[in-house]
Amino acid sequence: MKKQVLTGIKPTGRIHLGNYIGAIKPALQLAENQSYNTAYFVADYHGLTKIHDGHEMKELSYGVAAAWLALGLNPDRAIFYRQSDVPEIFELSWILSCFAPKGLMNRAHAYKSMVEENHFAGREVDAGVNMGLFTYPILMAADILLFQTELVPVGKDQIQHVEIARDIAENFNKLYGETFILPEYVIQEETSVLPGLDGRKMSKSYNNTIPLFEEPKKLQKLINKIKTDSSPPEEPKDPETSVLFSLYKEFATSDQVEEMRRRFQEGIGWGEAKKELFQVMNSFIEKPRSKYEELMASPHMLDVILQNGAKKAREKTIPFMKEIKRKIGIYH
Ligand code: TRP
Repeated sequence: MKKQVLTGIKPTGRIHLGNYIGAIKPALQLAENQSYNTAYFVADYHGLTKIHDGHEMKELSYGVAAAWLALGLNPDRAIFYRQSDVPEIFELSWILSCFAPKGLMNRAHAYKSMVEENHFAGREVDAGVNMGLFTYPILMAADILLFQTELVPVGKDQIQHVEIARDIAENFNKLYGETFILPEYVIQEETSVLPGLDGRKMSKSYNNTIPLFEEPKKLQKLINKIKTDSSPPEEPKDPETSVLFSLYKEFATSDQVEEMRRRFQEGIGWGEAKKELFQVMNSFIEKPRSKYEELMASPHMLDVILQNGAKKAREKTIPFMKEIKRKIGIYH
């Protein structure tokens, strides 16, 4: 039996370098490997916890779908769908919520950090928290468990969510017998801390991202904004602590990386290093960017691809859902 791999991206912002390196790139590598079944999706209902504008939701969802495809996802090989097109996920989400201790949700990082933030700001602790945000991990558990997923490639910030999915699955299995497979997370160790423009982790919430499909001029501008120190050009620089170098490594060939390492050690001006980074990034992204733009201009094509994917997904989710409902005594 092939192992099931599954991951999703929520449409809460434009796809950035961190999404690509942390989630999309490793997921696509697994999709190429014949020994896995892969399911990749647009987590639009997860996005709804934050995005409360219909037009924006639509654009961002298409953006995530187009990004997956532009970067090489082959929808004939993977099951590729929009979460909201698979109603069984939401049915399971309710069922799982009846096996998810509230205390477990209280401890989930995203919720906990909002509570702490509110506390320090002297606000009511649950200010700005909607129930979707609070139960976010349960919906994510439903995404994962409904596909009998064994491996979930995610960024480090999602580890806890996968652990919560395991906990909920165990609670259910204990009562009803082996039903759900216990999933494991897969993280990209060496790229797990991709820095953003300011040197902190690249994240939408820090507003320090580099959008992947940025047009060349804006891309160059963003790269110029990456924070560097004031050391003069001729001074030798440590490649291992440089944001520019760690980004360069993701897009250059290994020969180019070695050459750049040498130039850092001999002394390279930050301006020069930024120019080189732009070169490798831009030439990497050129083709996917035009494919992305082409797809964004034909949303109908995206709809067809996603709906086909949902059909394939439901060939699995409908029968499994019946089995689950039979176990809990709700199937007539
Ligand atoms: N929570 C994930 C993120 O913010 C997105 C996501 C939703 C997901 N459902 C998932 C990831 C299921 C993996 C598996 O990045």
